[in-house]
Order: sequence, then structure tokens, then C-alpha cells
Amino acid sequence: MKHSEKRDFKFDKRADKYDDHFEGKLSKVFYKLIYDNIELFDSAQVLDVGCGTGTILKTLSERYKIVAHGIDVENEMLKVAKAKCPGMDIQLCSCEATPFADKSLDAVIACMAYHHFPDKGAFEKEVARILKSGAKLYIADPNFPLVLRKIINFLVRNLNGEFFSSKEIAMRFEKSGFKLVTIKKRAYGQLVVLEKL
Ligand SMILES: C[S@@+](CC[C@H](N)C(=O)[O-])C[C@H]1O[C@@H](n2cnc3c(N)ncnc32)[C@H](O)[C@@H]1O
Repeated sequence: MKHSEKRDFKFDKRADKYDDHFEGKLSKVFYKLIYDNIELFDSAQVLDVGCGTGTILKTLSERYKIVAHGIDVENEMLKVAKAKCPGMDIQLCSCEATPFADKSLDAVIACMAYHHFPDKGAFEKEVARILKSGAKLYIADPNFPLVLRKIINFLVRNLNGEFFSSKEIAMRFEKSGFKLVTIKKRAYGQLVVLEKL
């Protein structure tokens, strides 16, 4: 499915309220999983895919001297991100075809975003292209028990959303040249950390 067809979740319509409403509050579990487990170093080139309102980029830039990049397909979300993260490289762009050079990034994050990506196979190939060997990929997404996940996936079958278990996420990326580093779980969140081979 093309980027232009992806309008189902309409983040743009609630971009200015996103951080303070339930989605922003629910996201704290996923943010903490990332902040507690991410490994960064000075000058690391870090991309947040589906960066939304830029909360993760802002927080990581306050904690580390990184070169931060963010991409998203929703203009209004990016407006909030740009205001929150002045001077950062924040671009309107889909996860399937990014402007980054081959093997140019030290870390890629996708927080609460992977389940939205309409062409996950294209994203998996793209992130394998832009990450350096040995660099890490952090996928934070909801952790639903199997039966609930099947029900939710059935209910959202006509939208772009599809939820996977940690093991399924790991297996998908292993096919694109990654190895699993660790899986962390916290409340309703899961973090899958992978290393580019
Ligand atoms: C639930 S929000 C999460 C935002 C942010 N990562 C956070 O955790 O605060 C999901 C984001 O993914 C973005 N998104 C959806 N499909 C995308 C795609 N194909 N490429 C890039 N971003 C996408 C949406 O526009 C939205 O901003």
C-alpha cells in the first residue's frame, strides 16, 4: 500500500493534543523501555521512524550528544516535532523509502509505529540498508497476549495496523539481515532490540 493511501489513523487531526491525551500518556511505557535500554554515544546518527511529535528525539538529545533525525508521514505531527526539537533534521517521509545513505546510521528507533507501517517488508529492507553493520534497531510496540492480538488484528484488518509478538518481530528482521540482541517487556509494552549484521 502506498504512503498516500495511509490515512486511517489520522494522527494529524489530534497532533496538537497527542502528548497530553491518552496516547501520549500510554506511550510513557514505550518511552521508558527505549530510554532504559538504548545504547548511544557522542555523535551517533540516530533516526526515529514515525517520530510523531518528537518526544523521543527531544529526550535523547537532552541526554546524549547525538545527531538526531526524525521522519513521519503526518504533517501536523511533524509541526509539533519541529517546534519541540528546533534545529533537528525532521522530514516528511515514509519509512519505506528514506533519504539516508547506505550504512549511514548508528541507531534506528520505531516507537508505537511499526504496527502502523503499511508495507512492513519494505521498511525492514530500508532499515537494513541505512543502518551500519553492528548498529542497533529498537522496535517498541504493544505487547498483547496471543488471543487478544488475534482479535485486535481481526478488528483492524481493514486498517493499516497489524500487531506482532516479539518473536515474530525478531523473525521478520532476521530475514533482512539482523540478529536478535534482546527482548524487554514492561506492562503492555515490548521492546525488540536487533543488531544489523
Ligand atoms: C502512535 S504514533 C507514535 C509517535 C511516536 N513514535 C511516539 O512514540 O510518540 C505513530 C506514528 O507513526 C507514523 N507513521 C505511520 N505510518 C508511517 C510510515 N509509513 N512512515 C513513517 N511514519 C509513519 C504516524 O504518522 C504517527 O505519527
